[in-house]
Amino acid sequence: MNGGGPAFDLVVRNARIATGADVYQADIGVSNGVIVALGVRLAGGAREIDAAGRWVLPGGIDAHCHLDQPTGDDSVMADDFESGTRSAACGGTTTVIPFACQQRGGTLQDAVDDYHRRAEGRALIDYAFHLIVTDPTPHVLEHELPALIARGYTSFKIYMTYDALKLDDRQILDLLAVARREKAMTMIHAENADCIAWLTERMLERGFTAPQYHALSRLPVVEREATHRAISLSELLDTPVLIVHVSGREAIEQIQQAQWRGAPIYAETCPQYLFLTEDDLDLDGFEGAKCICSPPPRDAANQDSVWRALDHGVFSVFSSDHAPFRFDGPDGKKVHGENASFDKVPNGIPGLETRLALLFSEGVLGGRIDVNQFVEMTSTGPAKLYGLYPRKGTIAIGADADLVVWDTFDPQPIRNADLHHNVDYTPYEGRNVRAWPGITISRGDVVWERATGFVANAAGRGRFLPCERPVALHRSRHEQQTRNKGFRWLAALGL
Ligand code: URP
Ligand code: ZN
Ligand code: ZN
Repeated sequence: MNGGGPAFDLVVRNARIATGADVYQADIGVSNGVIVALGVRLAGGAREIDAAGRWVLPGGIDAHCHLDQPTGDDSVMADDFESGTRSAACGGTTTVIPFACQQRGGTLQDAVDDYHRRAEGRALIDYAFHLIVTDPTPHVLEHELPALIARGYTSFKIYMTYDALKLDDRQILDLLAVARREKAMTMIHAENADCIAWLTERMLERGFTAPQYHALSRLPVVEREATHRAISLSELLDTPVLIVHVSGREAIEQIQQAQWRGAPIYAETCPQYLFLTEDDLDLDGFEGAKCICSPPPRDAANQDSVWRALDHGVFSVFSSDHAPFRFDGPDGKKVHGENASFDKVPNGIPGLETRLALLFSEGVLGGRIDVNQFVEMTSTGPAKLYGLYPRKGTIAIGADADLVVWDTFDPQPIRNADLHHNVDYTPYEGRNVRAWPGITISRGDVVWERATGFVANAAGRGRFLPCERPVALHRSRHEQQTRNKGFRWLAALGL
């Protein structure tokens, strides 16, 4: 007892806890935003939540989402840090990692400063930043990037496609060399830019402009080739990479083969590759534009491949890739008009709030993955890969009290009207789920309560999280072995 007062700020009682490894029943005692006790019949809390019969899981980490990111044309992302993190919290996510994107000709530091200004005072939950490197000048490679990695920006994304963002193989190697030396994580958007441009040109010449043709301009082989190349570049420098938003069988095969031979290849997938197909782009009129994202959703057989890969441990991370553009209005999907060709439609779909409910419903309750796999891919894995573990990503003494108490029920349809983002549609409208986060707790504060519809009115309570270097990655058995065998020559090259 505290001088007669309650022993804890919060106690979550009778919790059916799952981490990435365990399932057990306990009370969770929280003080000053941190888990300080796990046990049975804990002393009282200033606030008590009875979770009897309900799962209590670590808060989700959405390690790939785009919030208030400048786009380079007249389109505007519909969610800023306030609406985006509100929506995330209502969907059971307690940490987001969006992207500070370097503008070509600009510095990385400018991008980071600008992004902090956009986040400051607005986030409801905690956040870290990935960098996006679009212009790897000697100054970036030698000074800016190493300095930023040292200051807690320990992961960066690079693109193999999109004219304004893409890097060539030589530039990618330059960046992988920095990642190797500084122990950072490189995330790669793997699609072959020239194949896409070549196919798109021919499709537009023949008048194939509707949203459905987006999927044909970015066929699986286009992703497979780039995935293979990204893996090869990573192996050349014996440096980990994470292939983001993997869409189907062909890319999975490349990743799995690399993992089987012991290469340090990590992978992420997203709800759109489990719950949407290319048919969702083939709707009347311009409706299909709602589901334009890259890589595009594939077919049912590819969905099955992604489900199997989830179960077989191919993916360390399950993210939303929330890239929020409104369907109606002049600055979203219709920024180039209602009949714009598919290549002019902003890429990306909303998904921050629905990510966990979809996977919990179909994956855990549907028996396709177990609850530990769910926690691993939605929370623990991203925390480890991006240097936030064990502060985030688990339920353990000393960890931040980021918790989700889950409600389960008979199937209910997802309705955009019930969501909290600032987008005017969800691609999952009408799809049934059997679970939603009932209570979301961020550092000991209840920020979402489904029964009452309560959302904490607390923009600005979210804190910036500098990330550690993901050290575990660099002590892998693979690294030990390859160091001992064939990779000494990299040291001879100063790498
Ligand atoms: O279509 C997508 N995925 N848009 C978001 C940007 C990206 O490449 O992740
Ligand atoms: Zn991408
Ligand atoms: Zn993305």
